[in-house]
Amino acid sequence: MACLSSYCWNPFHSAVNHGEADLSAAMQRTLLRKSMRRLAVSSRKHSSSPFCSTTTSPSALKKSLVPDHTLSTNDVQRRQPASKPSVKDLFSLEERTIVVTGAGRGLGITLASAVLDAGGDVVCLDVLSQPSEAEWAGITKVGEVTGRNATYHKCDITKEEDVQATLADVASQAEKRNKPIRGLISCAGIQQMVDAIDYPTDGFRRILDVNVTGSFLVAKHTARLMRDAKNSGSIVFIASMSGQIANRGIHCSAYNTSKAAVQQMSRSLSVEWGRYGIRVNSLSPGYIRTAMTDQLLAEKPEIEKLWMAGALLGRLGSVEDFKAPAVYLLADGASI
Ligand SMILES: NC(=O)c1ccc[n+]([C@@H]2O[C@H](COP(=O)([O-])OP(=O)(O)OC[C@H]3O[C@@H](n4cnc5c(N)ncnc54)[C@H](O)[C@@H]3O)[C@@H](O)[C@H]2O)c1
Repeated sequence: MACLSSYCWNPFHSAVNHGEADLSAAMQRTLLRKSMRRLAVSSRKHSSSPFCSTTTSPSALKKSLVPDHTLSTNDVQRRQPASKPSVKDLFSLEERTIVVTGAGRGLGITLASAVLDAGGDVVCLDVLSQPSEAEWAGITKVGEVTGRNATYHKCDITKEEDVQATLADVASQAEKRNKPIRGLISCAGIQQMVDAIDYPTDGFRRILDVNVTGSFLVAKHTARLMRDAKNSGSIVFIASMSGQIANRGIHCSAYNTSKAAVQQMSRSLSVEWGRYGIRVNSLSPGYIRTAMTDQLLAEKPEIEKLWMAGALLGRLGSVEDFKAPAVYLLADGASI
């Protein structure tokens, strides 16, 4: 299985962090070899005797170093792919439904259209009453041509009862179409630029409520549906580079804090839910032109120059940049 626990993707600096959620047998062997080498070096460093490292037998070391979550040989064999799928199949989202939050506009609605393009049905959730007209017209057209299903539901991700009821409803519709829910893109989020020294407590709490607790609630109830139906699946959190760095030129302490929490939530859930066949990853975009950044630029136009100075590809990110990584993480190709 793929072990991407946090996936940092942006045109400024694209780095890939490998988590430790699901280790293949080969990776376990590599980890074991590295750990044994490290232990041998450290025992040489800390020992007054140059022969000290030879006193621990390799088998004893091996025993003490095998991680708790090591799979048995049977498990590893059972998890090998039975056939060799084509690359097209590896990126296909056919025969499944994917939930996308924040899909009323911006990045969310673009990723919803990517799900449809990749063969999946899509359920769009957003607190807005209506999705963005032009983008939704495009989604409807693709749906009509391909026979794939796209629905839009008003849902506030911070209200657990709403989330649970909406997901239960869309899951039962998806089952009837024989396209069960097998994935989530958690994209809903809010941003606010306020100096930390003056940050109103309510405002700080609101950011954490939507970006962290709301994202968690949707992930929890989607994972429950997949677990109960015994379906494997994939959850992709849209975090941000702001979870790892503090942005120059804008003061967004609550947002940055919330995105670091999303990245860590992704790692934690991947460790817990791998046992249900549910993979969990996060994508961390840099600056993208959307309504969210338009608002920041309207408040502080001078920061665009600063952002562009750090844009290695000479442009800000575009929502289109995230279609391929999101589809990849949702599709079976990410877990071979
Ligand atoms: N634009 C960027 O530069 C950038 C960079 C890194 C990460 N991100 C992240 O990408 C995601 C999408 O951002 P965007 O740029 O498309 O912004 P956006 O404001 O256009 O979209 C966010 C969507 O989330 C929805 N939303 C907000 N609160 C909600 C709630 N309580 N329940 C349901 N839906 C809610 C909004 O209505 C909106 O449609 C966010 O999580 C954001 O933090 C954006």
